[in-house]
Amino acid sequence: MTRAAITGWGKCVPPAVLSNHDLEQVMDTNDEWIHTRSGIKERRIAHVEVSDMAAVAGQHAIAAAGLEPEDIDMLLVCTCSPDRLIPSAAAMVQAKIGAHNAGTMDLNAACTGFLYGLTAAAGLIASGAITRALVIGAEKLTAFLNIGERATGVLFGDGAGAVVLEATENANEGILSTELGSDGRMTELLSVTHTGTEYPKGDPLYAERTVYMEGREIFRNAVVKMGESATNALEKAGLTLADVDLLIPHQANVRIIDATAKRMNLNPAQVYVNIASYGNTSAATIPIALTEALEEGRIKPGDVIVFVAFGGGLTWGGLALRWGDRTEPIRTSDAALPPTDKTGLELLAARPRV
Ligand SMILES: CC(C)(COP(=O)(O)OP(=O)(O)OC[C@H]1O[C@@H](n2cnc3c(N)ncnc32)[C@H](O)[C@@H]1OP(=O)(O)O)[C@@H](O)C(=O)NCCC(=O)NCCS
Repeated sequence: MTRAAITGWGKCVPPAVLSNHDLEQVMDTNDEWIHTRSGIKERRIAHVEVSDMAAVAGQHAIAAAGLEPEDIDMLLVCTCSPDRLIPSAAAMVQAKIGAHNAGTMDLNAACTGFLYGLTAAAGLIASGAITRALVIGAEKLTAFLNIGERATGVLFGDGAGAVVLEATENANEGILSTELGSDGRMTELLSVTHTGTEYPKGDPLYAERTVYMEGREIFRNAVVKMGESATNALEKAGLTLADVDLLIPHQANVRIIDATAKRMNLNPAQVYVNIASYGNTSAATIPIALTEALEEGRIKPGDVIVFVAFGGGLTWGGLALRWGDRTEPIRTSDAALPPTDKTGLELLAARPRV
């Protein structure tokens, strides 16, 4: 049976840092509230676009897999904040990295996007349609924030993470199962409004885009759905919670992560958390966290790893995989973003207020 295994990984976080103390200068909030309620201390603000961050993360993942960009058959960017509506961010990344033999597409399942993307790419591999995929989660959600809106403005950050998936016949590695879900009746709980065809050009509200979120309702749903989808994914793989070596959850709020881990009966050493440094980077949180978990030696050959996520839609998902033999990159890449001399606060302040 052909499965998809992660053979390369990489991340790109923009250099400009925006701390909670910086935010105190532009909205009615404070470090203590943000850290206690969300676990976030700082986040990154992009001075470039989503395709730029995605391209850098993608090149690191391709090098880690020991491949060349031309080896990729499918390039999938999971994002809800692409540079443009047309072309896809994936097509722009393709040109930037030279993955000329790949098909390209974007996928939007909000913060669950990376799990939907992994599932789609793994299915293409299992069907024999492709052999190697580059799956990238990349977001610049800070472009949609209203500076001063404290309910959402403190939670999000920018960044990208990527993995290479390759076909394997080895029964002891690869993606074992996924469980994806959605409830479109909860559309209004989390939404970036005034962006699409609802408000065409010329409409007075066109471009009055902003993130709208009902935090408490999302919180409640997230804890239930993340726990359920992780358990269901494990069951589909013939495993139980006792088999889990590491849970890598979507990083939206450390209290949601803690509550999910508790429901799954996992101890803190079995859960990877880096939200303090980056906030919620939407579809990018899991591949960034996976890359950092590998860099920190938190993943061992043969480990059972579970990804869980939830986001706008509402959408949710769980994915179980068994890690292969290699936890070190085959090669490294010197791909990097252009430098900036701007601080996070300066970049945020330079964005027009709507
Ligand atoms: C947003 C979230 C952190 C708010 O935490 P909470 O404990 O539910 O806080 P509440 O919304 O009940 O607000 C409590 C108080 O803090 C205030 N507050 C809200 N945001 C604040 C901020 N940034 N700084 C200071 N105070 C703030 C509120 O006005 C409220 O004050 P009040 O009691 O005087 O009315 C939390 O609900 C959450 O993380 N939800 C999930 C959001 C999410 O994950 N979204 C992305 C999905 S992928």
